[in-house]
Amino acid sequence: MAKISPSILAADFSCLRDKVLALEGKVDYFHLDVMDGHFVPNISFGPIIAKALRKITDTPIDVHLMVENPADFVEWFAPYGPEIVAVHYEVCPNLYRLINRIKELGSKAFVALNPHTPVLALEDILPYIDGVLIMSVNPGFSGQKFIEGTYRKVELLHKLREARELDFEIMVDGGVSPSNAEKLVSSGADILVMGSAVFGAEDPVSVCEQVRKLGRY
Ligand code: DX5
Ligand code: ZN
Repeated sequence: MAKISPSILAADFSCLRDKVLALEGKVDYFHLDVMDGHFVPNISFGPIIAKALRKITDTPIDVHLMVENPADFVEWFAPYGPEIVAVHYEVCPNLYRLINRIKELGSKAFVALNPHTPVLALEDILPYIDGVLIMSVNPGFSGQKFIEGTYRKVELLHKLREARELDFEIMVDGGVSPSNAEKLVSSGADILVMGSAVFGAEDPVSVCEQVRKLGRY
């Protein structure tokens, strides 16, 4: 079964509470896209959104840090107990140290890769991480077109995982929808982030149910 993490960036913020509660029990995580206007052109929100979500839902939070100083944000989100924290490879010169810190704070440590960053850049760190977040669009905005080369990256990562008998998870983020979810899951993806495909749908619950049923075999 695939895990689903709707990105609230694509939700209507004037009624965020209703949008989130409608999916309670139907999804595995809520995905928080944190953007600083430097690492990515856009600005979104910081830890206050995690604080607010913790008040209304028990669904685990998955934090995607698209910021130039992820080590600071890791500390600022920690009080709200995120289940997953993903930091970008492209801005982490001391990745091993930051991964250990994320785990020490009680979260699963994921490393995110921009579309142009090769999977093999993570070759040496794979045994120490809980997951890899493969970006299938350039980070910064929801509603962008899925980059087809992503399947190859997911397959390669899945093969590396099997060959080395590791158990990290593979998350795919950007332009994911029911139309490409099946191929992503059969390529090796475990967690699918969906923004506009869920929150732009007439019936977000049925989109989640449909994708969550997908299995690898
Ligand atoms: C892009 C974000 C994604 C995005 C997903 O920078 O990391 O999580 O919001 O939205 P969709 O599914 O609409 O591409
Ligand atoms: Zn994201």
